[in-house]
Amino acid sequence: MARKAPFWRGFGLLLVPITSLLVTSLQAFQEDWSTARISDEPEFLAPIHNLTTPVGREATLSCTVSNLGKYKVAWVRAEDQTILTLHTKVVTHNSRISVTHDNLKTWHLRIRQLKESDRGCYMCQINTSVMKIQQGCLDVYVPPDIINDDTSGDLSVSEGENATLWCRATGHPTPRIAWKREDSKPIILRKGPRQEERVETYNGTNLHFWRLDRKQMGAYLCIASNDVPPAVSKRIALNVNFAPSIKVPNQLLGAPLSTDVHLECYVEAFPNTINYWVKNRGEMLLNGSKYTISETRRGYKVSMQLVIHNFTVPDIGTYNCVSTNSLGRAEGTLRLYGQ
Ligand SMILES: *[C@@H]1O[C@H](CO)[C@@H](O)[C@H](O)[C@H]1NC(C)=O
Ligand SMILES: *[C@@H]1O[C@H](CO)[C@@H](O)[C@H](O)[C@H]1NC(C)=O
Ligand SMILES: *[C@@H]1O[C@H](CO)[C@@H](O)[C@H](O)[C@H]1NC(C)=O
Ligand SMILES: *[C@@H]1O[C@H](CO)[C@@H](O)[C@H](O)[C@H]1NC(C)=O
Ligand SMILES: *[C@@H]1O[C@H](CO)[C@@H](O)[C@H](O)[C@H]1NC(C)=O
Ligand SMILES: *[C@@H]1O[C@H](CO)[C@@H](O)[C@H](O)[C@H]1NC(C)=O
Repeated sequence: MARKAPFWRGFGLLLVPITSLLVTSLQAFQEDWSTARISDEPEFLAPIHNLTTPVGREATLSCTVSNLGKYKVAWVRAEDQTILTLHTKVVTHNSRISVTHDNLKTWHLRIRQLKESDRGCYMCQINTSVMKIQQGCLDVYVPPDIINDDTSGDLSVSEGENATLWCRATGHPTPRIAWKREDSKPIILRKGPRQEERVETYNGTNLHFWRLDRKQMGAYLCIASNDVPPAVSKRIALNVNFAPSIKVPNQLLGAPLSTDVHLECYVEAFPNTINYWVKNRGEMLLNGSKYTISETRRGYKVSMQLVIHNFTVPDIGTYNCVSTNSLGRAEGTLRLYGQ
């Protein structure tokens, strides 16, 4: 308190001893005064600290009183006025509650294995003729938990349709919901035909997609977090279905006789396709000594390869790569001639 009187300082050196004298006697007076009061009645010496504790842990609220004398301290739950402890005894039927004291001065209300129902304020009461009360509050934090029944499951949507992924979580404080792609690529959001936005993280319970396209297919993570670790996440696969489309990089191929000729087609489709090669709109080509057929997939993209070994005159003609899935069929055409 003495330090809060800086205006003394300007008055010069002479005043300093007087200042300190005044302060000393003021402190002495305060002590005398409070001791005098204490000899009659108990007093609270400090406010009860509020606590924030995760569920399952334990919390101890402490109430410090001076000169308790013949009086007793009780802990009472403020919400419903339930008396929990009286002096050194626990009076409520709750094995998680206990009370201890340090020389009748500091009274500790200990609650073990905290439940959400323990959240609230607690009063420390002294049974003086006019009851003395002070209270402290306990906030019980609960880590986030995703409510599976109220969160999207894996979803399959046709390209061009709208879709919404949603995610709900419990916890205290209320968890924040954020979305990310599992492959760490940005989330593509479209608000209109030409309004495209890419974000690493999207905040919000609902993730809306307007007219989905294939690039938005993937696994999304809904991440729920609050101030209590651990954060939790759920993986939601969003499949975008579309019929195959084929691109042929080289539609006209000339090759020297007796060499191996490489033919290639690029397919995009989902769900997965059945792919094959046809010669002169007739026979389907089979893997073997004449033809090597292979394909490489990356997501919804497939590269189809055909190698014709020892190119000879009968091999000249038209080749088609064909791709089908449940939504449709596509084919590409390549013409092969000898050089
Ligand atoms: C404890 O929390 C209560 C309610 O949230 C508030 O009114 C009070 O001022 C807080 N006490 C202290 C010592 O911070
Ligand atoms: C306070 O409560 C205790 C226990 O009930 C009792 O023994 C004591 O007489 C009470 N004191 C006053 C002043 O009411
Ligand atoms: C997608 O949403 C937009 C805007 O809400 C709406 O105009 C459109 O008809 C929807 N498209 C489909 C395929 O449901
Ligand atoms: C999402 O929320 C986090 C944490 O609250 C914040 O740091 C971030 O800036 C938010 N992102 C957006 C795009 O609002
Ligand atoms: C064709 O055979 C080659 C090796 O002989 C093999 O690597 C390839 O996977 C086969 N392709 C198909 C479609 O079975
Ligand atoms: C390629 O085909 C020709 C004609 O059928 C044949 O004479 C030749 O031996 C073949 N070459 C190889 C490497 O198989």
